[in-house]
Amino acid sequence: MADFNTQVGIVGAGPAGLMLSHLLHLHGIHSIVLEARTRQYCEERVRAGVLEHTTVAMLRAAGLGERLEREGLRHCGIDLGLHGERHRVPFVELTGKAVTVYGQQEVVKDLIARRLSDGGDLRFECGAVSLDNFIEGQPSLRVSKEGSVDTIRCDYIAGCDGAHGVSRAAFPIDSYHIYERVYPFAWLGILAEAAPSREELLYMHHSRGFALYSMRSPQITRLYLQCAPGEDLSQWPDDRIWTELETRLGCKDGWKPTIGRVLQKGVTGMHSFVMEPMQCGKLFLAGDAAHIVPPTGAKGMNLALADVYYLAEALHNHYSANNDEKLQAYSATCLQRVWNAQRFSWWMTSLLHRFENAPPFDQKKQQAELRYVMRSRAASASLAENYVGLPLE
Ligand code: FAD
Ligand code: DHB
Repeated sequence: MADFNTQVGIVGAGPAGLMLSHLLHLHGIHSIVLEARTRQYCEERVRAGVLEHTTVAMLRAAGLGERLEREGLRHCGIDLGLHGERHRVPFVELTGKAVTVYGQQEVVKDLIARRLSDGGDLRFECGAVSLDNFIEGQPSLRVSKEGSVDTIRCDYIAGCDGAHGVSRAAFPIDSYHIYERVYPFAWLGILAEAAPSREELLYMHHSRGFALYSMRSPQITRLYLQCAPGEDLSQWPDDRIWTELETRLGCKDGWKPTIGRVLQKGVTGMHSFVMEPMQCGKLFLAGDAAHIVPPTGAKGMNLALADVYYLAEALHNHYSANNDEKLQAYSATCLQRVWNAQRFSWWMTSLLHRFENAPPFDQKKQQAELRYVMRSRAASASLAENYVGLPLE
C-alpha cells in the first residue's frame, strides 16, 4: 500500500492517454498513466490506420514525427467504388492536404518509447482502478492489485480508458446524456502478408456488402469485409475470406487484391455513441471513453488525439496562467469536432454498406448518391475536406 501525488491522473494508455501525458510533459505538467493491459498488448493491438493531415501536423509539432515521416505512407486520395467501377477522390487537388497511413500501434509504440525516455510514469498491468472525489474535494485514483491498494492523489483525472473503461461509468447517473446508434452489421478485418497491389485505399460498395482495401507497409495489406454483427470467425477460413474479398473488391479493369498469408483477423462492431458532457467536476473524458464512431470515416483515433490536444492546452492555461476558461469550455469545444466526425462517419457508413432489408427505393437512392459523390467535384470535395480532417480551432 503506497500513496503517490501527481498533477493529472490518467486512466488508459491508448493513443489518448499516452498523447495527453506527452503533451502535458512538454508543458512541464506531471502525470501518472494507469493501464490495465501489458505494454506488449498495447503495442500489438491492430486497429486504426489513417492519420488526418491535422493529426500528422499535431504529432510533428509534438516532436513525434521522425519515424512517422520515414515509414508513414502519404496518400493523396482514395478510390470509391460501386459494383467494380471505381473513381478517385483526389484529396490534394481538392483540399491541398493528404492523409498518412501509419498504424495506431506504431503511434502507440512511438508514444510509449518517448514517455519512457523522458522519464514518464506509465504503470502497465496496474490492477483495478476506481475514481474518487472528482466532484468535490481532492480527486484520487485507487488502484487495487493482489490485495494491496495504492492511492494516487491528483488535481485532475483524465478518463482515457476507451469504450469499456471505468471513467465513463463513474459519472453520476443524472449528470450526462447518451446519443447512440447501432448498425446492423460489423467488419471482419484481416492483416495480410501481401504487398499492396495499389497505392491508395479502395472503399467498395457491392451487392454482397461493403469491402475496404487498405495497407500498412510495402509488405502488409489490411482488408475489411462487411459481415454480420456477431459473425463467427470459425466460419471464415482464410480461403473463404480471400474469395469474398476478390468478389467484392475486384474491378472491371481486372484489378483485384493480392493474396497472402493472413497474420491476424478479428470482428469489429459498428456503433455511433456520444456522451455529453465530456466533463464532470475534475474528471475529463477523452477519446473512445466519450465517443465512438463507426470506422468507415477513419476518424476514431484522430478524434481521440484532438480531444487531448484541447485538454492539454486547457490544463496548461490553468497551471501557467491560472486561467480556467478553456477547462470550462473543454466539453463544448471537443463536442463540435466530435459531432462533425459523427455526421461524417455515419454518412460514409450509410453511403457504402449494404442494408439487408432496405426497400428497393432506398437501395436505388443509395447508389445514386454514391454515383453523385464519385462524379461531382463539389460532392467529392466535401468528402475530401472531412476525410483529411477539419482544422483544430
Ligand atoms: P483505446 O485505444 O481503446 O485505449 C484505451 C486504453 O485504456 C486501452 O489500452 C485499455 O486497455 C485501457 N483501459 C481500459 N479500461 C481500463 C481500466 N479500467 N483501467 C486502466 N486501463 C484501462 N480510428 C481512426 O482514427 N482511423 C482509422 O482508420 C480507424 N480504424 C479502426 C479500425 C478498427 C478495426 C477499429 C476497432 C478501430 C478503428 N479506429 C480508427 C478507432 C480507433 O482505434 C479508436 O478510436 C482509438 O483506439 C481510440 O483511442 P483511445 O485512446 O481513446 O482508446
Ligand atoms: C483503415 C481503417 C478504417 O476504418 C478506414 O476507414 C480506413 C483504413 C485501416 O485500418 O487501414
